[in-house]
Amino acid sequence: MKTTLYYFTATGNCLDVARNIQKTVGDTDLLSIPPLVRQTSIVPETNCIGLVFPVYDYGVPLVVREFLDKLDVTNVAYVFAVITCNFLPGLALERVDELLKKKGKKLNSGFIIRMPGNYIVMYGANPGWMQRYKFNRGKKKVIKIAEFVNNRKDYGVEKSRAFIDRVLAPKMEKYIAEFNTRDEKFWIDERCNGCGICQKVCAFDNIRIVDGKPQWQHQCQQCFGCIHLCPKAAVQIGKSTEKKKRYRNPSVTLQDIIKSSG
Ligand SMILES: Cc1cc2nc3c(=O)[nH]c(=O)nc-3n(C[C@H](O)[C@H](O)[C@H](O)COP(=O)(O)O)c2cc1C
Repeated sequence: MKTTLYYFTATGNCLDVARNIQKTVGDTDLLSIPPLVRQTSIVPETNCIGLVFPVYDYGVPLVVREFLDKLDVTNVAYVFAVITCNFLPGLALERVDELLKKKGKKLNSGFIIRMPGNYIVMYGANPGWMQRYKFNRGKKKVIKIAEFVNNRKDYGVEKSRAFIDRVLAPKMEKYIAEFNTRDEKFWIDERCNGCGICQKVCAFDNIRIVDGKPQWQHQCQQCFGCIHLCPKAAVQIGKSTEKKKRYRNPSVTLQDIIKSSG
């Protein structure tokens, strides 16, 4: 009983979680979402599929919505999703369930895993002790997830206990649609040496290197990969990032993320 696990990651958390699920569930293919959405339709080769993606603004990243739009679920019998977030999962799992219901299916099992946050406009990398705490809890949760997936059992949609999620999600989700042009505030400081890593990690072909420096093309999804993964920490947004510590999941390499971007 093979499983296909689709993931989207910018700073490695979702790839780390997806690999842990792959190891625990067994017989699972991992596929990165952004290269797949360049196709007109996505037809899974297995009847059990899973998604792992980060919560953005209490909701579902644009690329994951596009993926779900293009996903052909005709022969799919079991769908599970695992969202990673810093703390507040919003209504992301509920939205996946709604999108699947429009296609005549449902989210059989939806789980929340808290991982180190990468929303650098508000905070820098979580301190080491907090990262370790979240990784350990995440690994334990994967064992529970595998039990449900391996037995194709319905867990239902895990709900956030925070009232704030229900209040803020409907307001905040609207901003996701405006992400494309938010890169107008991105700039590089004098440490940029034109290495081009920002361009390579961008899964949305949103960065061109012109005269040895990056230029953003306004098809941004605000994943912040270019900011966190710049080896010189030279990519900034307005005035909010200069002093903040960057983050990459320690189990995931830069090459892994470049490969995932397609
Ligand atoms: C644009 C953006 C919005 C985010 N919004 C939320 C949020 O609403 N709630 C939350 O807890 N974390 C939020 N985060 C944090 C990520 O969901 C979290 O760090 C995730 O694990 C990152 O996954 P990745 O390393 O696979 O990219 C946000 C991150 C970004 C970049």
